[in-house]
Amino acid sequence: MSTLLVPTSRVPLRSRPVRHLTPRYVRDRARQALYERAHPNDPWLTPAAIRLLTSLLRPTDRGAEFGSGRSTLWFATRVAALTSVEHDPSWHEAISARLLERGLRNVDYTLALEDQPMERGGDSAYARVAYGLGDGSLDFALIDGHYRDYSAKFTLPKIRPGGMLIIDNVNWYLPSQSKSPHSRTPVRGPKTAVWSEVAAELASWRSIWTSSGVWDTAIYIKPAPIGPDTALFGPDIVADQMPTARLRRSP
Ligand SMILES: C[S@@+](CC[C@H](N)C(=O)[O-])C[C@H]1O[C@@H](n2cnc3c(N)ncnc32)[C@H](O)[C@@H]1O
Repeated sequence: MSTLLVPTSRVPLRSRPVRHLTPRYVRDRARQALYERAHPNDPWLTPAAIRLLTSLLRPTDRGAEFGSGRSTLWFATRVAALTSVEHDPSWHEAISARLLERGLRNVDYTLALEDQPMERGGDSAYARVAYGLGDGSLDFALIDGHYRDYSAKFTLPKIRPGGMLIIDNVNWYLPSQSKSPHSRTPVRGPKTAVWSEVAAELASWRSIWTSSGVWDTAIYIKPAPIGPDTALFGPDIVADQMPTARLRRSP
């Protein structure tokens, strides 16, 4: 089985300030590189988040992702149905070929070109793919692509009670105590007004904030009425599968 080539770094070192080049960061970065080499087909999320999702996803789940890649194939092999949104035509073509090659037919894969500046993402065809999803219809959604603030905002009502919203690189958008580079501090607050709206909604959701020390992925769980789904963490996670990477408290 071939693997998808992805850049080893999501944070181009030369284009950003190097204040974060501490011994801790160098160690975490090396650990992350080793992980990626050992798990070439894993999504581009923190290892801790991947381990949690491995336990939490169910074969009957229906989900959505904004920003495709290895995650598309990874989800498609684990869940019943996935809506995936991509802005880059050549990447869309590459991932479509991988899906075909693997016989994965459960992905509704949309190419939505970058048609708006970032601050007008609410008018983008990309974020508006969420409008086509039924309210409360998703067991999970991953925000990991373009127009992330509006993609998250429009997707919130589409998650079912007990379902998950996964935000990758969350430390770049929402405040936390994270040591990962370029993290938003509590003093600076959310990155945009739209992220503030998303943060206000997520304040009542349970969350698991994971960090690789290089970047962070958060999993938010929509409040559910008392019932079987409120026991999400009962049977779904086995203690010895718990991530070894640091788990952070939500901001
Ligand atoms: C953070 S990536 C999405 C990663 C995906 N959710 C995953 O976990 O594998 C965001 C965007 O980067 C682009 N991208 C990802 N990997 C790429 C690659 N190897 N080459 C070119 N573009 C890539 C795609 O346009 C994608 O939507």
